Amino acid sequence: MAQDIGPEVVAYEIIDFAIPAPLTDVPGDVERGWTIVQNAANATCLICHAMPMPWQPDHGNLAPDLAGVGSRYNAAELRLRLVDPKALNPDTIMPAYYQAQGLNRVQEKYVGQTVYSAQDIEDVIAFLLTLTEE
Ligand code: HEC
Repeated sequence: MAQDIGPEVVAYEIIDFAIPAPLTDVPGDVERGWTIVQNAANATCLICHAMPMPWQPDHGNLAPDLAGVGSRYNAAELRLRLVDPKALNPDTIMPAYYQAQGLNRVQEKYVGQTVYSAQDIEDVIAFLLTLTEE
């Protein structure tokens, strides 16, 4: 019997430390991305990163502040950082939000699944691009 290995992972190509091609045909939705990164049930970024969201009670300091990140990186660079940060830094503690294999300490029910869907990744990128320096 075929095993349910969760959503199919879209193939992507890493070029020059970035993933230039979007994972889906639907443009990223800023509002949806904003909601996703604040969803504590979904491995929230705020555990490690500070973000310009003063209403959030807890911000992590294990990683760079994401304020201004949209000025530092373009969509292609942000895509690789979310999809497979280990491609840039094999020792990073940043989770790979779009890998179904090669992960450590995955709960059994999540084996073979990505943390975010391909569309989630595109929506989070759209939101991060709004975090530009004033
Ligand atoms: C377990 C901690 C952790 C979590 C959770 C995490 N990150 Fe990271 N992230 C890091 C670390 C550490 C770095 C620094 C780069 C490195 O380690 O190579 C980083 C780097 C980044 C960068 C590059 C920032 C820069 O200025 O260079 C972006 C963008 C980013 N993370 C976005 C996110 C988003 C969006 C989320 C949630 C979806 C998230 N991260 C969740 C730890 C984390």
